[in-house]
Amino acid sequence: MGSFAHEPVMVAEVVDAFAPVPAGLLVDGTVGGGGHAGALLEARRDSVVLGLDRDAEAVAAAGERLSGYGARVLVRQSGFEDLAGMVASPEVVALGLPPGEGGVSPRQVRHEPLKVVGVLFDLGVSSWQLDEPGRGFAFRVDAPLDMRMDRSQALSALDVVNGYEEAELARVIARYGEERFARAIARAIVAHRPVETTAALAEVVKQAIPAPARRTGPHPARRTFQAIRMEVNAELDHLGAGLDAAFSVLAPGGRLAVLSYHSLEDRMVKERFVAWSSRPPVPRGLPVTGTPGPVPPGRLVTRGAARPGAAEVAVTPRAESARLRVLERPAPGGES
Ligand SMILES: C[S@@+](CC[C@H](N)C(=O)[O-])C[C@H]1O[C@@H](n2cnc3c(N)ncnc32)[C@H](O)[C@@H]1O
Repeated sequence: MGSFAHEPVMVAEVVDAFAPVPAGLLVDGTVGGGGHAGALLEARRDSVVLGLDRDAEAVAAAGERLSGYGARVLVRQSGFEDLAGMVASPEVVALGLPPGEGGVSPRQVRHEPLKVVGVLFDLGVSSWQLDEPGRGFAFRVDAPLDMRMDRSQALSALDVVNGYEEAELARVIARYGEERFARAIARAIVAHRPVETTAALAEVVKQAIPAPARRTGPHPARRTFQAIRMEVNAELDHLGAGLDAAFSVLAPGGRLAVLSYHSLEDRMVKERFVAWSSRPPVPRGLPVTGTPGPVPPGRLVTRGAARPGAAEVAVTPRAESARLRVLERPAPGGES
């Protein structure tokens, strides 16, 4: 079994993003191997971390890695789209701030649930998931096609690759893979069915791509694998629901930080953040009085997306495509 431990992406920037929030509950919606969660537990000793992941194996690994933090951390298997329900669950409501930080132990006094002062999403798959042969995510590691983050889910990559109609497969590969040869790839996959392993799929995709295009850039199957993974795990649907849930539970002064690695994800994050931080336009026909409209519920902390530094990309190639966006729910009177 591979190791979950890998350098979390833009960890210093993520820790900085949460430095100004009040003490309370920090939710890591994609706890993975616990890298970001560990850094937050170190940096915010006045706060408690709830780590969520769809992947039971990630939950086990993160739980073990973070066990030294005792009652300051709770790790549970859940999709971040269900974040509001998790935050309202009895065991989370029972959490208290660490003693010595003005907090109370849950057993001492009945207390108000902790305020959600931070939510982090570090999207996509972990390097452990990619490297682990049994998971069937990666074109570089031969394994039966699978790609489910939550292995209790029915739909797997095997079903998508062998069961989807050609046109539907082409649509998935074009949209999520942003692959210009999507139709040729879908045609080749259908012609070679059944395609049952990652190596077989990688070879079919490679052969479907014109030779000159194969010779440049990353592995020719990379975009198709990414697309099928996003389809299997309904990643964009969950992201939309997760962002809405996160923003709905965020306390005044709290922050939402999202690390995305795909242009469609980043666009979704950007559009929501811009909408939440904009004053609604004055309705047509109403006089523009010069008085500002209602205060928007959010404030952009990052203008544009933050990118990793060259030094980080040199050590962690996965960081190269990372985009970090941070939004704050302003505290009353704190709005600029
Ligand atoms: C890039 S890794 C996170 C790595 C983590 N930040 C760390 O420092 O180790 C992304 C993780 O998010 C999980 N994930 C993806 N979509 C999810 C969702 N909708 N809900 C919960 N977890 C999700 C994956 O299973 C994976 O473990």
